Amino acid sequence: MNGWGSGYVTDVTYMTGYYRSQSPSIISLACLLCSVASPLPGPDDAVSYVELGCGQGLTSLVLAASNPHWKVTSIDFNPAHIAAARAWAAQAGLENVTFLEADLSTLGEDPASAQVPEADFVSMHGLWSWVPPAVQHGIVRLLRAKVKPGGAVHVSFNALPAWGGALGLQRVLRDCGRRLGSRSDRQAEEGLKLVQALRDADALQIVRQPWVHALVERMGPMPTQYLAHEYMNDAWVPCFHADLAAALSGAKLEWVGSASLIENFPDLTLTPEQRAIAQRFDDPLLRELVKDMCIDRSLRHDVFVRGARRMNTAARDAALMDVRLSLNIAASEMPYEADMPAGRAGLNRAFYGPIAQAMATGPQRVGDLLALPEIDGKRDNPAELIGILVGLDVAEPAARPRAAPTEQALRFNRVTTEILARTENFGRPLAAASYALGTGAPATLFELHAMNRLLSGDSEAQLGDWVRDIGVNLDDEGRGKLRQVFERALHVKLPIMRAQGVL
Ligand SMILES: C[S@@+](CC[C@H](N)C(=O)[O-])C[C@H]1O[C@@H](n2cnc3c(N)ncnc32)[C@H](O)[C@@H]1O
Repeated sequence: MNGWGSGYVTDVTYMTGYYRSQSPSIISLACLLCSVASPLPGPDDAVSYVELGCGQGLTSLVLAASNPHWKVTSIDFNPAHIAAARAWAAQAGLENVTFLEADLSTLGEDPASAQVPEADFVSMHGLWSWVPPAVQHGIVRLLRAKVKPGGAVHVSFNALPAWGGALGLQRVLRDCGRRLGSRSDRQAEEGLKLVQALRDADALQIVRQPWVHALVERMGPMPTQYLAHEYMNDAWVPCFHADLAAALSGAKLEWVGSASLIENFPDLTLTPEQRAIAQRFDDPLLRELVKDMCIDRSLRHDVFVRGARRMNTAARDAALMDVRLSLNIAASEMPYEADMPAGRAGLNRAFYGPIAQAMATGPQRVGDLLALPEIDGKRDNPAELIGILVGLDVAEPAARPRAAPTEQALRFNRVTTEILARTENFGRPLAAASYALGTGAPATLFELHAMNRLLSGDSEAQLGDWVRDIGVNLDDEGRGKLRQVFERALHVKLPIMRAQGVL
């Protein structure tokens, strides 16, 4: 490590990622589903969005490129991250995003904080549990100064008790890895090898704990940059939800609900017996504690507001009926069964089938979907429809339904594809900027690549050239798979992205 990061990894950069739960449309939906007023940003709203610990900045960049009226301000203390993010914004010609190099432990008191505007939305993904108390205190002071009354804050963090069983794993990976490697990513690599050796040697703290055992399996294919930022920090410590809520109350923030939208529905999250225990409490924090005991929530995505304006059911449902949703999948791919925290659940085909069909042509208003004559099911529950469709990643809220793609978003998507093709694994889930959605449209790099080849004048018949260019290091089998991926991109995904206003 370089020594200036107060024990946070600074000698390797973090990987690039887009995280939809950081988007104001998801944050607002979480509030509305929990009956707290936080209108989804309107098409012309001048939203002020602030991201803390933005890393390489992709989420902020996608949001800025999708919303020309927004002012996006993104902060990280690693100059390598800020330099990369600024270069990306400049190459894409984005003028509504500012990347600020600053240490959150002192920014609140620094004259540089004048560059951070008051915020309607703040998001911090992968920051809170990974930084020392001095940084957490600095974050709270900054939030106290900068979140507007009524503003919403999204925080993701490693949560207890789910993480409790893996404390030993992290300690071994970090402390032993440090003895075996020099740079943080090499240390993480060596630490993981040691953890895997312990697993193979039947170490009780791994093999007798199914969650920890499964975690070790999941870590195998992870990029070493990810492992370094996840496991090698001095101060990493998971915490209970109520302790985070107590800390953020110092910024007058009140807990509202989860940005993992399904988790806001007790029926989908807990068994009847578990619900009966949770319902003994009217304190929402204690209910969450019971929930955290019952389900596997190692990474929580929570939403807080500064000044909760409670809505009655009629007002909430009226707001939800007006939400526009856009399908992320083909109508034929609509899932009729899904894994929920409470177990596998069936989705009524006679209800969701016609709804998916109606959405195939483009974004639809929730109230109009629930009024479709052909659906068979409850027409008076917009919360459940939104919770299921958006919570299962099947649909995205649309801020400007059917708006044409902007030059800005098209340019950003082209530049982003070029940048990521040089640096990232092609299979990672990413997002394209969409003015129509006002948020990211989910897309892989293969799909972005196919889109850009078409937009730059290629015909579909040139798919063989794309396979040859991208699959230059692949054998015949690999090229065959790549062809299938591009064929799906052309025939399934690009029509969806068209309906989402990406192209
Ligand atoms: C795990 S990464 C997450 C990055 C990004 N949010 C993402 O999910 O891709 C945490 C980020 O917080 C930044 N960070 C850590 N300590 C910080 C501090 N004291 N001030 C500002 N940024 C900090 C790191 O440089 C890193 O980019």
